[in-house]
Amino acid sequence: MNAPELTEHEHLGLYLRDTGTASEWWRVTVADRPQTYRLEHGVEDAQGNPSVDIDLVVDAENLRAKLKKWHREGFVFEARGASPQADAQQRAAFMPALQRAAAARRNPSGMDGAGGLRESDSTSTPDAEVAASHSVRIGATEVPCGVAGPWVPRINPAYLFSERFNDIVEDIVENKRVMLIGHTGAGKTSLIEQVAARARHGVVRANMNGQTTVGDFVGFWTVKGGETLWVDGVLPTAMREGLWLIVDEIDFAEPSILAALTAVLEPQGRLTLKEKGNEVVEPHPAFRLFATANAVGAMSQFRHLYQGANLMNEAFLDRWRVYLLDYLSPAEETDVLMRTLAPYMTHTLAVTLTAIAADCRAAFAREDLSSAFSTRRLLDWAELMLRTGDPERAAGPAIYAKVSPEDATLIRGIIRHHIAPAG
Ligand SMILES: Nc1ncnc2c1ncn2[C@@H]1O[C@H](COP(=O)(O)OP(=O)(O)O)[C@@H](O)[C@H]1O
Ligand SMILES: [Mg+2]
Repeated sequence: MNAPELTEHEHLGLYLRDTGTASEWWRVTVADRPQTYRLEHGVEDAQGNPSVDIDLVVDAENLRAKLKKWHREGFVFEARGASPQADAQQRAAFMPALQRAAAARRNPSGMDGAGGLRESDSTSTPDAEVAASHSVRIGATEVPCGVAGPWVPRINPAYLFSERFNDIVEDIVENKRVMLIGHTGAGKTSLIEQVAARARHGVVRANMNGQTTVGDFVGFWTVKGGETLWVDGVLPTAMREGLWLIVDEIDFAEPSILAALTAVLEPQGRLTLKEKGNEVVEPHPAFRLFATANAVGAMSQFRHLYQGANLMNEAFLDRWRVYLLDYLSPAEETDVLMRTLAPYMTHTLAVTLTAIAADCRAAFAREDLSSAFSTRRLLDWAELMLRTGDPERAAGPAIYAKVSPEDATLIRGIIRHHIAPAG
């Protein structure tokens, strides 16, 4: 990748490279004169001792050449907000905090609730309360409740309803067809499931990136005990029973499935079962239809990451409200980490972990990394490091084994930049 045109101050910051035993960096700051930049080079050994060995001032053209060179040499840009001192403090604080948390997890009885480990403050309505009510407030919206049943998902008490979800929840109440697009692990499926869990609606999912045939989806005839009988597919089942249907990874669906869906996309859209003598299936008032996709519409630029995904035509997309679900903000993700892994996950640990996730996502956006960094992955890594007390060991099965060796090296460098080795 070439360094893009230099715009003002866009390249200020830290460029990092991990050499295995130490981390090496270049820092770019503005120099005294206009259009000049100060470049400092330094290394930090495995004990976290920093040393600066180069300090020079260059012009914009020279900087641009340096950026290209650093990129070839494997340096990765790291946007840093806080001061170097604050960064260093946070970096050094991680391992001692993790060791305390891992020890507390091994020996929960020894924990007195003090020391920064806090209880989960679940904000969900208790089950008994929901069972008695006709609606439940989710964010800014009052959502009518259904009846309990085997298809109702379990409430995840750590789930965080971001304010950004308010419009989506309102669309659900208004019976709009909602399509959620975004990277894998951004939280598309869990948003729908958690709304359903709290409002007691049954959810069924049909994944289009696999074996779902039009027969599974719409229905088919079969012979049983000498009799031919019709078996409803997942779509007519959800419509008749008033379930919420999530068509997952709709950009992989067969055209025949999309054709069946199209009729149902109208507000009171009915399904005609042609194979069953044109029987008409009316939608139950509680029926809702959702789709998720990784690479359609505003996400099309990422199609190369989701091989085999089809482009959806605009006429089809226009039948949906399409929401781009981005990853949670660092503050939200910190909150989710602490709630999910309460009481062991502390604020100190969570802030560093979300900063690592944010840096990995920024590297992905610049195409320095070819793999996205999901909330799911972050939670899994965090959970494992609380068990092992070792971020690097936990990163093996939670991260490194899932990505290319180049990506693993780069992520390892980002992690080392945020977490000083245990002293
Ligand atoms: N808002 C949130 N609050 C808490 N956890 C979340 C949230 N969003 C995502 N997660 C976590 O991330 C995981 C992956 O989300 P998921 O909905 O399966 O992603 P997607 O369907 O986009 O691939 C969830 O199981 C959950 O643990
Ligand atoms: Mg999903």
